[in-house]
Amino acid sequence: MSHSAKRVPVAVLISGRGSNMTALIEAAHAPDYPAEIRLVISNIPDAPGLETARAAGIQTLTIDHRIFGKDREAHERAIDSALRDAGIEIVCLAGYMRLLTPFLTDAWSGRMLNIHPSLLPEFPGLHTHERAIAAKASKHGCTIHLVTAGMDEGPVLAQATVDVFPDDTPESLAGRVLKEEHQLYPKTLAELIRKNTN
Ligand code: GAR
Repeated sequence: MSHSAKRVPVAVLISGRGSNMTALIEAAHAPDYPAEIRLVISNIPDAPGLETARAAGIQTLTIDHRIFGKDREAHERAIDSALRDAGIEIVCLAGYMRLLTPFLTDAWSGRMLNIHPSLLPEFPGLHTHERAIAAKASKHGCTIHLVTAGMDEGPVLAQATVDVFPDDTPESLAGRVLKEEHQLYPKTLAELIRKNTN
């Protein structure tokens, strides 16, 4: 791909630390990376990742779900408008800790990715590292999948595997998986874009 090739505008949705967001931002600094990280949206006003994104010169928005009370779809309509206003073509969930309704998952079907810290379909939901250790799993890892209405259920795009050691704690295992997450997410996003544009 030449330097003048159009980069696909991507938004990253976060709720917290944003280390996967950072991995995407850093990957997109490469001249031949096929995506531009154009917008970061958080549902949590003081998510540390927002400051990281701002420092990288990326437009940020907080769309606080609490303002919308129980109306999940109204919250998602606000997100959807912001994504469209910014000309976003692909959305990456990166530690975005809200369940989505079919409103948003249908609107972005095939164009919304999530990273999950387990080898799906093993351990959907929360506390995946604790649960992998409790289940005496010998392998664990992370999954990038397309987002559908079912939680952690959409088609798998890629996985990375790590060994689980007998002396692993949830923290040590999480750290080993997170390193893989930071490699896998930028790589899988680039592969998806290249596949769709070739
Ligand atoms: C990551 O481990 C991600 O896989 C996980 O939250 C962490 C966010 O870290 N996501 C989920 O559990 C989604 N259900 P980060 O904010 O540093 O990227």
